[in-house]
Amino acid sequence: MMKRVYLDYSATTPLRPEAARAMAHYLDDEFGNPSSVHSYGRDARLAVEEARRQTLAALGAGDGRLVYTGSGSEADCLAVIGFARRHPGGCVIRSSIEHKAVIESTKVLASGGYDVRVAPVKADGTVDLERLVGLLPDDGRPTLVSVMWANNETGVIQPLKALAELCRDRGATFHSDAVQALGKIPLEVDAVGVDLVAFSAHKLGGPKGVGALYVSGAVELEPIVYGGGQESGLRSGTENVAGIVGFAAAVAASISELEPETERLSALRDRLSVGLHKTLPGIVVNGGDALQRLPNVLNISVPNIDLEGVLTALDLEGICVSSGSACSTGSVEPSHVIAAMGREGELASNAIRLSLGWGTRAEDIEYALEVFPKVVQRVREFSGH
Ligand SMILES: Cc1ncc(COP(=O)(O)O)c(C=O)c1O
Repeated sequence: MMKRVYLDYSATTPLRPEAARAMAHYLDDEFGNPSSVHSYGRDARLAVEEARRQTLAALGAGDGRLVYTGSGSEADCLAVIGFARRHPGGCVIRSSIEHKAVIESTKVLASGGYDVRVAPVKADGTVDLERLVGLLPDDGRPTLVSVMWANNETGVIQPLKALAELCRDRGATFHSDAVQALGKIPLEVDAVGVDLVAFSAHKLGGPKGVGALYVSGAVELEPIVYGGGQESGLRSGTENVAGIVGFAAAVAASISELEPETERLSALRDRLSVGLHKTLPGIVVNGGDALQRLPNVLNISVPNIDLEGVLTALDLEGICVSSGSACSTGSVEPSHVIAAMGREGELASNAIRLSLGWGTRAEDIEYALEVFPKVVQRVREFSGH
């Protein structure tokens, strides 16, 4: 069988064995609906509440709620749209590098006349705090600020503490999408002082189709999914019991290994970066200082290449990476994240994201280092670059 090296952990991850083991029981014997009053239901309810309690503790969350959703996207939408519906006439400020879940939610709000503002980022990919301050309304209207904890394309970590302080001082509610950050860097939600935080299980070795929104004590939201009133009325729908249990197991496993994994993955990422710089002169790392980025992400722009050609050739060699740009029907659009950092032309459109995770081994990185430059050279020769 062809050798395959998966370097796309920011897209999704393989299920961790701890999560699979924890889930098996709830996919098989304990299949109850947590809302049922009989023993099957009660056992399922216990499992969900224990998973919630464990996960809140792992997040350093005290008095808040954890609302389980069907995805990280839904958690973001609940935060943004749920806030706006609760606060008609308010304002939402988001950064220019948010995930589509936040961007598209704010577009829906703006099309309905809601006041939506966009805060730019600096060249290093961190939000421009001064410009953000200038966008805050000064008439006391309810305001939501949405800035992600770490970016999904570049791995750039945002100044969360400063943002939380700013929001607290100015009476704004602070939402952060921590889908990529959870399990990669310490997240103490109460200590940082963030009001709403979105998560997704499948980015850290949990199952796909489970997300959660942390909602701190004081924050009020309207639901966006209506029905039986599960999840304290904030997200109707029968809970994904096995998924929630698997999510909790993945969080526990990732957090227990956080320190050694940070060291291991950042060393592998740096080896990848140094090796690629040697064999591919002219490449540029997107996202400033390595310490300001997640330990598992390397985003590079490669000059003089046909990006789709390189991605296809890498795939044929078994190397699975992601373009940092949105490919749509034959044309490659520069990524909104890379473009927002001021990159132009080729550097904006030829971004490639390599992302590592719990299953990545040193030999995977060596294989990528061996194959990557050969592929780039071959595609360059073929396309006349
Ligand atoms: C930063 C960020 N937010 C939200 C999401 C959406 O998560 P999900 O795939 O669970 O909808 C992703 C996934 O790509 C992400 O990277």
